[in-house]
Amino acid sequence: MNKIIYFTKSGNSKIMANGLSEVLNIEAINILDKPIIKNIETLIVVSAIYKFQDSPEMRAFIDTFEKDSVNNAIIITLSASGFMSQKKIIEMFHKKEIRTLGEKTFKSSFLMINKNRPNSGDIDNAKDFIINIIKN
Ligand SMILES: Cc1cc2nc3c(=O)[nH]c(=O)nc-3n(C[C@H](O)[C@H](O)[C@H](O)COP(=O)(O)O)c2cc1C
Repeated sequence: MNKIIYFTKSGNSKIMANGLSEVLNIEAINILDKPIIKNIETLIVVSAIYKFQDSPEMRAFIDTFEKDSVNNAIIITLSASGFMSQKKIIEMFHKKEIRTLGEKTFKSSFLMINKNRPNSGDIDNAKDFIINIIKN
C-alpha cells in the first residue's frame, strides 16, 4: 500500500498533498489526524521548510514509525526559496532503514512571494516525479 502524509501551517502542503492524492489515487492524510503507518510500500511525505529547517512536527511523527512499517519514501518539499531540502527527515529515514527514493523541491507561497504556489503545474510536476520513481 502507498500513502501520502502531510503537515501544514498555512495550507500549501495540504494543497499539494490533496492534489497528488487525486491524480495518483493515493490517500492523503494530515499527520494531525494520526494516520496508521503500517505495511507501506512507498510513503510520500509532503511538508515544508520553516525557519531553515524541516518541520519538527513531521520529524516527531516519523520518529513514531515502528521498524519495517515503511519500505520506501519520496519527499516533496515546499519552501519560499524553492530549493531547500528536508535533510533531517532524509537522515531519519536512513537511520530507520527506510529507503529514500528521491526528494523534489518546490517554490510555494509565503507572505507576498510565490503567489498561488503550489499550482496545478507544480502538482503535475510532482506527480510525474513520483510516477517516474515508482515505475523504475
Ligand atoms: C514561520 C515560517 C518560517 C518559514 N521559514 C522559511 C525558511 O526558512 N526558508 C524558506 O525557504 N521558506 C520558509 N517559509 C516558507 C514556507 O516554507 C512556505 O510558506 C510553505 O509553503 C509553508 O507550507 P505550509 O503552507 O504547508 O505550512 C517559512 C514559513 C513560515 C510560516
